[in-house]
Amino acid sequence: MFSPCKIKALPFLALILCFAPSANAADAKQGASLYPVCSACHGPKGLGNRAMLGPKLAGQDADYLLAQLRLFQSGARGSAQGDAQGRQMAAMSKGPQLSSDQALEDLVAYIGTFPNQAVPTSVEGDKDRGKGLYQTCAACHGDRAQGLSQMAGPRLQGQHDWYLLSQLKKYRAGQRGYAADHHAGRQMRSMMGVLAKEADYIDVVAYINTLSQE
Ligand code: HEC
Ligand code: HEC
Repeated sequence: MFSPCKIKALPFLALILCFAPSANAADAKQGASLYPVCSACHGPKGLGNRAMLGPKLAGQDADYLLAQLRLFQSGARGSAQGDAQGRQMAAMSKGPQLSSDQALEDLVAYIGTFPNQAVPTSVEGDKDRGKGLYQTCAACHGDRAQGLSQMAGPRLQGQHDWYLLSQLKKYRAGQRGYAADHHAGRQMRSMMGVLAKEADYIDVVAYINTLSQE
């Protein structure tokens, strides 16, 4: 990882960056002590766990992960009726150890140290049809589904396909993106108009499965 403190050729820059007040800097080492409880459902290296329906966290944008943890805490995600998995995760996000911003940022910094490894795929559909459907999604998720932080669109490439499908169904059912002040979620929910039927979800996810990491 880039560490300005190690750049000897730029002493002045290093002086500013390394001796500036650092109380709020995210600390992956601190975050490591908060992660063990997450392992059961997200895997020791954040690669997910199908049996627990826990998605992959490795390789995901840090701001997105942070935003989702805050949504679970506030009830803007995981509180909808019938969303058993969301409720489970919401309960996890409310542990006393995670009550400060610093703790959440440290935890996400630790997740950021996990290598983004490929996971097995299971969804089969019409990839060519999916490619056509995906054109609308690219504006916010990127042409390789790598995620576009400026649009708040998370990475979809490399995520478990069963999880992607489950989330599309949740947006459709109003179990995600339901809170009035959760604009990103409402935006995504409104995009579900592009996917008219379940075969569309399957095809678009089958296409995302073909995209590789750059
Ligand atoms: C009991 C199982 C369980 C535990 C323990 C757990 N999670 Fe989760 N987590 C889930 C499930 C299931 C989901 C997907 C919820 C859904 O379907 O909306 C999830 C979703 C998430 C998401 C959203 C991912 C995305 O792509 O939107 C984040 C971030 C997350 N968990 C972080 C954590 C962290 C950090 C911890 C440890 C403090 C943790 N989870 C502990 C089960 C768990
Ligand atoms: C206008 C921007 C926009 C477009 C277009 C868009 N999305 Fe999204 N998408 C988002 C945002 C923002 C989020 C995160 C929302 C939240 O916080 O719940 C998201 C979340 C998702 C998630 C959940 C990811 C996770 O890790 O939990 C999936 C799956 C998804 N989008 C698939 C799609 C597909 C497939 C399309 C095309 C049919 C699409 N999106 C089009 C903005 C968009």
